[in-house]
Amino acid sequence: MQGKNIFASSHPLVAHKLTKLRDQNTKPKKFRELIREISALLTYEATQDLALGPLPIETPLKATDGSMLIEKIGLVPILRAGLGMVEGVWELMPSAEVWHIGLYRDERTLQPVEYYSKLPVEPTVSVCLILDPMLATGGTAVVTVDILKRWGVSKIKFVGLIAAPEGIAKLHEHHPDVPIHVAAIDDHLNEVGYIVPGLGDAGDRQYGTA
Ligand code: URA
Repeated sequence: MQGKNIFASSHPLVAHKLTKLRDQNTKPKKFRELIREISALLTYEATQDLALGPLPIETPLKATDGSMLIEKIGLVPILRAGLGMVEGVWELMPSAEVWHIGLYRDERTLQPVEYYSKLPVEPTVSVCLILDPMLATGGTAVVTVDILKRWGVSKIKFVGLIAAPEGIAKLHEHHPDVPIHVAAIDDHLNEVGYIVPGLGDAGDRQYGTA
C-alpha cells in the first residue's frame, strides 16, 4: 500500500522475513536477526530521497564524478523495542548518530510519558529516522516527533515493522509531513492495544521476557 505518506514494502524478501518474524515458533535469537535484516531493507527504501553532493574521485583508471551523502542522519530508536532495529540500519550508515528516546504509557491517563531523552540543546542532525517496530496506537510516535521537531529537526521519517490503521491515522493527523515506512499494515488493534494479527510483544520476543 502506497500513498498519503504511508509506504508498505512490497519487496518479496521483506514479506518472507516478516512471515518468519510473526511466527510464534520463532525464537528470540532468530527474531532479533530478522528484525535487523528487515530494518535494513526498509531503511534502504525509506532513504531514497537523501540528498547527495558531488565528490570528485580518482579510480585506478581515471578521474570521475562521484557523490556522497550530505545530510547528517540521526537514528532515534524508541526504548526498548526499537533498540533491535538499530544495528541493521547502522550498518548501512555507520556515521549516523544514535539518539535514544524512552517513553512509557501512564496507566491512569494512557498517555505516553517521556522518561529518557538526552538530546543536546542544538540539533546535531538534519534528518531523523525514528525506529520503533510497532506503530500501534500512534501515541508514542506522535510524542517522539513532537520532541524531535522541538529539538529543531524538520525532516523526520518513521521506520517500523508493522502498523495498525489506528496508529497511521493518529500519526498522520498530528504530523502529516512524516512519511511512515513499514513492512506491513495489519488489520486492527485489540482491546489492549496489540496489533492483530501482528507478532505479539516486539520487546518481549527480542529479549526473551515473554
Ligand atoms: N507493541 C508491541 O510490541 N506489539 C503490539 O502489537 C503493539 C505494541
